[in-house]
Amino acid sequence: MSKINIFDTTLRDGEQSPGVNLNQLEKLEIAKQLERFGVDIMEAGFPASSQGDFEGVRAIANTIKNASVTGLARAKKSDIDYAWDALKEAVEPRLHIFLATSPIHMTYKLKKTPEQVIQTAVDMVSYASKNFPHVEWSAEDASRSDIHFLVKIIEKVIDAGATVINLPDTVGYTTPQEYGDLFKYVRENVRNIDKVTLSAHCHDDLGMAVANTIAAVENGATQVEGTINGIGERAGNASLEEIAVALNIRSDKYPYTTNLVLNEIKRTSDLVSKLTGMVVPPNKAVVGRNAFAHESGIHQDGVLKNASTYEIITPELVGIQSNNLVLGKHSGRHAFKDKIEQLGYELAEDKLLEAFQSFKLLTDRKKEVTDDDLFTILTDIQTDT
Ligand code: KIV
Ligand code: ZN
Repeated sequence: MSKINIFDTTLRDGEQSPGVNLNQLEKLEIAKQLERFGVDIMEAGFPASSQGDFEGVRAIANTIKNASVTGLARAKKSDIDYAWDALKEAVEPRLHIFLATSPIHMTYKLKKTPEQVIQTAVDMVSYASKNFPHVEWSAEDASRSDIHFLVKIIEKVIDAGATVINLPDTVGYTTPQEYGDLFKYVRENVRNIDKVTLSAHCHDDLGMAVANTIAAVENGATQVEGTINGIGERAGNASLEEIAVALNIRSDKYPYTTNLVLNEIKRTSDLVSKLTGMVVPPNKAVVGRNAFAHESGIHQDGVLKNASTYEIITPELVGIQSNNLVLGKHSGRHAFKDKIEQLGYELAEDKLLEAFQSFKLLTDRKKEVTDDDLFTILTDIQTDT
């Protein structure tokens, strides 16, 4: 089993979600939970972006002992210097420098020629390596870059001292097949690529961030980047909890391990949602309110006989106490009986049938029948002699 490094960027790319703004204490609280969750690297922020972010990154770097802490920098000496000041007390300081490599970004945003981009990347990676023991270099918009140009620039930044090469799908444009092919090509064609960590970083604009990340792992990525609950720029980043659970549940197909403590997933997700104000959609994989809820009678009957009929993930695996059989209009007698027994009632067959019929009538008026509704039905049945 090969080990995959988990790079969490909830506090940097995740915080770039429109409307999210975490203060220093909130950042620190999330960082401590990420440490308990077992991430290998946490990107605490972008120190040059504001005084507040600088302080937040510094506080996290000085507190976290069981993960490497990193901060983002543009390919500029001043950004690298700010980052060093914020990160120098960390147990394992790490810098994350990015520079775009796609024709669109080089022409319109950077207004630099490809040769100037190579020179800037090499100069800044070599400058950063003087202080930082680990330097990650990201080829921003890698998935829309020319592959021959990518090979050339990656070789040069490795020679300049980069220890991690990240190939982001910055705009969430690529497909699993294409992104996997990119990693395979880089693995097979870049000189010295085996001396560095190769990282995947995906955005979810076409809803493929997790699938793309896993395709990268199957083709040679040894680090994956993502956020809790998939928060991030625009449609967000790859969701780390989904990647972690997919690798675990499909270990028959994916022979990889991570250091993650999976039963910390729910707690981490709840904390990030609470402090960022980003609500987790009910149907979100792994952590959504409905991820372990069953409403239809056929599914409820199956789950009551054996949970594995409709659950591929046990709730306990991700830190959720139990599944939830929701009583609604598709529910059947088996789930209804089970529920009223949980509430402490045991009814004779005829009373049970009567109660079930009242419940069914109610479901035509109400989407979800609550415990209070059931108590009312049961009280009516018992007083109705
Ligand atoms: O998506 C992206 O390209 C980024 C870079 C800063 C690595 O977040
Ligand atoms: Zn990103």
